[in-house]
Amino acid sequence: MKKTEKPEKPVILTCAQPSGVLTLGNYLGALRNWATLLDTAECFFGIVDMHSITAKNVPAELRKNSISCLAQYIACGMDPERCHLFMQSHVIGHTELAWVLGCQTPIGDLQRMTQFKEKAAKLGFSVTEGEDNGMRFSHDGARAQASVNSGLLFYPVLMAADILLYNADQVPVGDDQRQHLELCRDLARRFNHNYSDTFTVPEPLIPKQAARIRSLQAPEKKMSKSDDDPLATLYLLDPPKLIRKKIMSAVTDSDGEIRFGTDKPGISNLLQILAATGGESIETLVHSFEGKGYAELKSATADSVVALLEPVQKRYEELMADKGYLESVLKVGAEAAQQRAYRTLSKVYRKVGFYPRAR
Ligand code: TRP
Repeated sequence: MKKTEKPEKPVILTCAQPSGVLTLGNYLGALRNWATLLDTAECFFGIVDMHSITAKNVPAELRKNSISCLAQYIACGMDPERCHLFMQSHVIGHTELAWVLGCQTPIGDLQRMTQFKEKAAKLGFSVTEGEDNGMRFSHDGARAQASVNSGLLFYPVLMAADILLYNADQVPVGDDQRQHLELCRDLARRFNHNYSDTFTVPEPLIPKQAARIRSLQAPEKKMSKSDDDPLATLYLLDPPKLIRKKIMSAVTDSDGEIRFGTDKPGISNLLQILAATGGESIETLVHSFEGKGYAELKSATADSVVALLEPVQKRYEELMADKGYLESVLKVGAEAAQQRAYRTLSKVYRKVGFYPRAR
């Protein structure tokens, strides 16, 4: 690099499946943090619709969720003027690179992925490791096996391709994606070793102290979008009235004391939510609620969540009313992503020995 040249900004990439509505936890733990990265890095944010079809879904819903997901991202602060927002299926290279990487990935490595095992187990299929690290099926395994699609097994390879295609330096992910990212790093190193230096080995960017928001109805578990209890989870797009209803009916305990501790999961969760949304520390909050009742804590928490989400929801509505704008964001995003993707893909194709196409 010449002395006068500015060093390139680091490249940050992350992706999420277009699974409909985001939760308050997604916003506080992920999106809000991503939005702070825009000025110091070149950021790529992908909506990974191709990952979504590993699970059953209705095409019309996938389409609707994808555009809604984009609007939610932008409303949460991912300013399209300062980052690249794109749909995975709009960029050629994700599946192409996944194929190449897959040809260097032992099946056993994929069968060992915790998330694969969990998802497979949900389909009634149990996996135990044999000496060869392969799968052993349970008694009813033969039938169940047929219902696990191979896309589910290949999922982490596609995810690795999402990252390596852009030569990302850093990848913001939740703790549950640590293992997938480790596989991605292995694949990058393996390719670099087998051919020659091609991929940046990406670093995970895991939030130091992300607020751990828990279910309002069963605060010993994480707040999750797949919860069956309609009162358990706060969604980004819940109307204020519903937010209040959910928080006012949150499960607490009967000792009447407002303090933070493992023996008080319900109250601690409300304090966490209030701290994460209002910006005051838990200590300060505990102090200011001394001698007050649970109802007061709940109503302050509800006010705080509503105040934080109201502008986000307003922006979301405006965006959804302007599909032309959203589509133009995707067009520009896909062009930027494609440019970078082609560079990597052509390098990879050359290195693995594919005969070059005449120009
Ligand atoms: N598997 C990730 C999740 O469920 C989503 C994902 C796909 C992803 N591709 C990615 C995340 C690339 C980061 C980078 O959260």
